[in-house]
Amino acid sequence: MKYFSFALLILAVNCANRTYSDDDARKIFYPLAASAYGNPKDCVSKWLGGQVIRQITIPCDVFSDDTCSGYTAIAPDKRLIAVVFRGTTTDEQLIAEIDETLHKKVQLGKGNVDQYFYEGFQKIWNAGMKDDFLSQRSRYPNYNIVVTGHSLGGAMATIAANFLKINYDLDLQLMTFGEPRVGDQAFADDHDARFGSSTFRVTHHNDIGPHIPPQFVNFQHHTTEIWYNNDMTTADYSTCQGQEDPLCSDQVPLSKYNITEHRLYFGVNLDDWVSSGCQKAL
Ligand SMILES: *[C@@H]1O[C@H](CO)[C@@H](O)[C@H](O)[C@H]1NC(C)=O
Repeated sequence: MKYFSFALLILAVNCANRTYSDDDARKIFYPLAASAYGNPKDCVSKWLGGQVIRQITIPCDVFSDDTCSGYTAIAPDKRLIAVVFRGTTTDEQLIAEIDETLHKKVQLGKGNVDQYFYEGFQKIWNAGMKDDFLSQRSRYPNYNIVVTGHSLGGAMATIAANFLKINYDLDLQLMTFGEPRVGDQAFADDHDARFGSSTFRVTHHNDIGPHIPPQFVNFQHHTTEIWYNNDMTTADYSTCQGQEDPLCSDQVPLSKYNITEHRLYFGVNLDDWVSSGCQKAL
């Protein structure tokens, strides 16, 4: 009995049963993810009192004018180190993403992830994000690590979270917005074994993002989806069960998939939030 309780305690600690916080999403994760769509410096300072270490933007190789981008930041008041990825800047890139995902997967952990997402992450990581992150990590070993991104950026954030856990065994918090499916069933299971139900995939109403690539080309979401079946102006959401909860965004029919809602979370449009001085509070 004693050993049984002990085992349960270890399980509880390891799975870090975090619950979703709408407040953290609005005040920490989404401002970070949205700031990636421009020069994040002023917005990260304004909304988190934080400092951007470096933003890295490099060719993604799908189209010649295509870039992948991410940045590292610290927020001393909130005691966190942030690793953030930008999503698609054009609908063409989103379409390319869908198209590319019908192609190859590469191994990550015990599963397989889309090659385009994986290479996007690897390029940003190896172009300097790794050095920036590791130096901040050794400088502030007690800060929480938060990993986030929207759309393609959410896919890269999920890959980064798994990569960091596998290679550095770091405790971290992952929250994404409008994340597409990242890998196969084995990857979704491996992710869930690693993080329990404590990583969050926020989805907005009929956003098309979470529906691509489709399950019939062997892609599967990881746990836990947080679905706002509304305009996201209030903390009104469902905490979904498992990987593909039929009572959450999975129930949205194809005819309703909406690209405007993909770029509009918490009432903030990603295309002009940073460039207009990130005035709007979340
Ligand atoms: C897509 O979403 C926007 C914002 O919610 C809405 O105004 C628009 O009517 C939707 N488009 C379609 C085709 O449903």
